[in-house]
Amino acid sequence: MQKRLVSGIQPSGTLHIGNYLGALKQWVDLQNYYDCFFSVVDYHALTLKPKPEDLRQQTLETVAMLIALGVDPKNCVLFVQSQIPEHAELNWLLSPFVTVGQLNRMTQYKEKSDRHGQNIGLLTYPVLMAADILMYDAQVVPVGEDQVQHLELAREVARSFNAHAGQTFTEPKPLLNKAARIMALNDPKRKMSKSIAGSAIGLLDDEAAVTATIRRAVTDSDPNSNKMSPGIVNLFTILEGFSDEETVKKFQEKYQDGQLKYSELKEQLIEDVMAFLKPVQKGYQSLMAHPDKLELIIAEGTKKARPIAAAKMALVKKNLGLI
Ligand code: AMP
Ligand code: TRP
Repeated sequence: MQKRLVSGIQPSGTLHIGNYLGALKQWVDLQNYYDCFFSVVDYHALTLKPKPEDLRQQTLETVAMLIALGVDPKNCVLFVQSQIPEHAELNWLLSPFVTVGQLNRMTQYKEKSDRHGQNIGLLTYPVLMAADILMYDAQVVPVGEDQVQHLELAREVARSFNAHAGQTFTEPKPLLNKAARIMALNDPKRKMSKSIAGSAIGLLDDEAAVTATIRRAVTDSDPNSNKMSPGIVNLFTILEGFSDEETVKKFQEKYQDGQLKYSELKEQLIEDVMAFLKPVQKGYQSLMAHPDKLELIIAEGTKKARPIAAAKMALVKKNLGLI
């Protein structure tokens, strides 16, 4: 039997190729090896108080984009977190097993609360994430470095809950992803992010936008160093994500021979990124043009996840002594 895997993504606006190469590409591959539960975590997104109409729209867009990228609702359980209200209930039932000290130590809380204020949602964000994970007895959770601390907390919660109330939850293991970290095209020392203008290639960008962003990408190299500059390393990482092996090899050899023209590398990237994006955008547009179809897919995900959540909640309540 396949191992159970759980992951989630916030519906917080348009996704970029960093999100794809750093996380979503793995989701697509993992479906073949694990019993996958993927969720669009709209309860988590509430911690930054998005405009209600934006949250609604972005949740639908995120589901559509996941499917367009190859997340197959027939081959995994794809659901929207708020459709399973048990997540919020479990969040409460787990909270006595987490200390304020543990939450205060979370680096992401420190960063986000500096920018957005110290709301309780941001503080207890990792408890809700633990609920997402423990609800479905995840055995593995794919994590990038920014989520390692949150997953460790989920493991501790499972342990301390089980110690108090008897065996209830499976302790999840991290599946450390060796995925690429994509840097900002206009500032390769920082991570590609939608909050840095000119840094990202959005998955919905058209050819003109992709062309402009790639042509403007920083390639500076230090003439006194024989090391590849961060900008070129980044372009190669993206090339590896979207081009075939032969093309990558060809450009690597040119680089080694000192024959690489950055403009040539960039034109290749534009071509291969667009070859990837075009069918994805087509699939996305066609889903967004049929909201009824999209809603049906979401409803089917709810139908698969909810009974599992309900059964887990019954056990949790019984074990805690709730009548
Ligand atoms: P975020 O919206 O920043 O929370 O990102 C959603 C997912 O995409 C997370 O798994 C991130 O680790 C991943 N991600 C975001 N930006 C990048 C990037 N520049 N390179 C690689 N992965 C990224
Ligand atoms: N906190 C994760 C992020 O920002 C998203 C998330 C919510 C998640 N619940 C999860 C990831 C459960 C894995 C498992 O990327």
